Amino acid sequence: MAGAGFGRQFSGLQGIKSIEDFELKDQRVFIRVDFNVPMEGKPGSLKITDDTRIRAALPTIRYALEKGAKVILASHLGRPETKEDRPKYTLEPVAKRLGELIEGEVILVEEPRSDAPKALLPGLKGNQVIMLENVRFEPGEQKNDAKLANAIAAYTDIYINDAFGASHRAHSTIDALPRLVAKRGCGFLIKKEIECLSGLLEKPLKPFVAILGGAKVSDKIKVVDNLMDSIDTFLIGGAMAYTFMAARGLAVGKSRVEKDKLSFARELMERIEGRGKKILLPIDHVVANDFLAPSLIETVDTIAEDRLGLDIGPKTRELYRKEIARAKMVFWNGPMGVFEKPEFAKGSFAVAEALAALSASGGQAIVGGGDSAAAAEASGFADKMTHISTGGGASLEYLEGAKLPGLEALRVTRESATPSL
Ligand code: 3PG
Repeated sequence: MAGAGFGRQFSGLQGIKSIEDFELKDQRVFIRVDFNVPMEGKPGSLKITDDTRIRAALPTIRYALEKGAKVILASHLGRPETKEDRPKYTLEPVAKRLGELIEGEVILVEEPRSDAPKALLPGLKGNQVIMLENVRFEPGEQKNDAKLANAIAAYTDIYINDAFGASHRAHSTIDALPRLVAKRGCGFLIKKEIECLSGLLEKPLKPFVAILGGAKVSDKIKVVDNLMDSIDTFLIGGAMAYTFMAARGLAVGKSRVEKDKLSFARELMERIEGRGKKILLPIDHVVANDFLAPSLIETVDTIAEDRLGLDIGPKTRELYRKEIARAKMVFWNGPMGVFEKPEFAKGSFAVAEALAALSASGGQAIVGGGDSAAAAEASGFADKMTHISTGGGASLEYLEGAKLPGLEALRVTRESATPSL
C-alpha cells in the first residue's frame, strides 16, 4: 500500500505471517522478545522496576503454550561489553518475573549454541518454557552472525518475532535467524504496534497534533520530515524547545541549546508555517539557577540570563491542553521537562492527562515509547492511552519511514519465499 503523501512504498505487515497462521502443537517455537527492562540494585539482588515489556509479550507466550507449543524465549538486556558485565545483565530476574506471570517454570539456559535447548525441548510440560540467557552475551548476536543463527535454527521449527522494541536492530536473533526458518511470523505485540503506528502514517485523523519533546532536535528531524504532510500542529517542549526559541531570537538564558541545529530549526519552522500549519513553542517556563543542585526554582515568561529552563510552565500546559482537546489524533514523543524530578514533571504529566482525556472522548492518543512512555507511566495515566509503544528507537525509526530489519526478515515475498540458507 502506498503511504499517502509520503512518496514511498509503505508495507506495514504485508507479507508477514502471524503466529495464528501456524499449527503450533508440539512444534519448537522460538519467540524473540524484548525483555530489556529497567532494573535497580546490585548483581545478586537486582529488581525489575518496570515489567511493562514482559507483560506486553504475554499474549503471544500464553497463546503458544495454550496451543501446545514447546517454547524457547530469547531476549537481550542492556549492552554488556565484557564477561565482567554478565552478573549485571543476567536475565535471571526476568525469568523469575515471567515465571510468576505465566504461573509456570522458566528454565534459563546459559549457552544457546550447546545441545541443552534441543535436549530439554521435548520434555517441556504445561507452562514450562526455556529462556536463553541474554543473547548479547553471545559475541555473534550484535554482528548478525550466521553461526549463532544456524545453531538456534537447528532447534527451531517456527520463528516468531515479538520484540518490537529491538526490531530496528539487524542482530542475529532478529535478522539472520528468521531468514533461516521457513515458518516465520510475528506475535501479537508486533501486530498491535505496527497496526497502530501504520495508522498514523496511512490514515491520520485530522486534526493531527504531534507533541515533540526530549533533549535533541536532531533525534526528531526525520520523523518530522516524514509526517510533515499529515500533521496540522506541532507542540514543542523539553530541552529541544530552547533550540527552537533561540532560533526565533527568544531569550533562553543558560538553557541547553543545540547551536549547530539553529538554522535547521529556523528553516523547519518556516516550512511548517509556510504550509499553513502551526508550530507552538512554550510561552512560560519552570526555570532553575542550576540543574544538578537548584537552590532556586521559579516560573517565568522570559528566561533570565542566569537561569535554565527545565519544564514548560502553567500557561503553556493550558495552551497545549486546549490544542490536544481539539485534536482527533495525537502522537507524543519526548517529555516536556525533566519529569524524573517532581519539581519539573508537571508539563509532561499535564500532557499525559490531556491525552488520557482525548482517548476517553474517542480520539487516538499514541505515545512513542522510550522516555515519553516512562513519563506517561509515572503520570498514572498510562493505561488510559490508546497505545504506548514498547519501542522508543524502533517506533521513531518506523515513523521515519525506515525499514526495520526485524520486520523485513519476516516477510515472505515472492523473492524470499524460501529461506536464504
Ligand atoms: C530498547 O530498549 O530500545 C531496545 O530494547 C533496544 O535496545 P538497544 O538500544 O540496546 O539496542
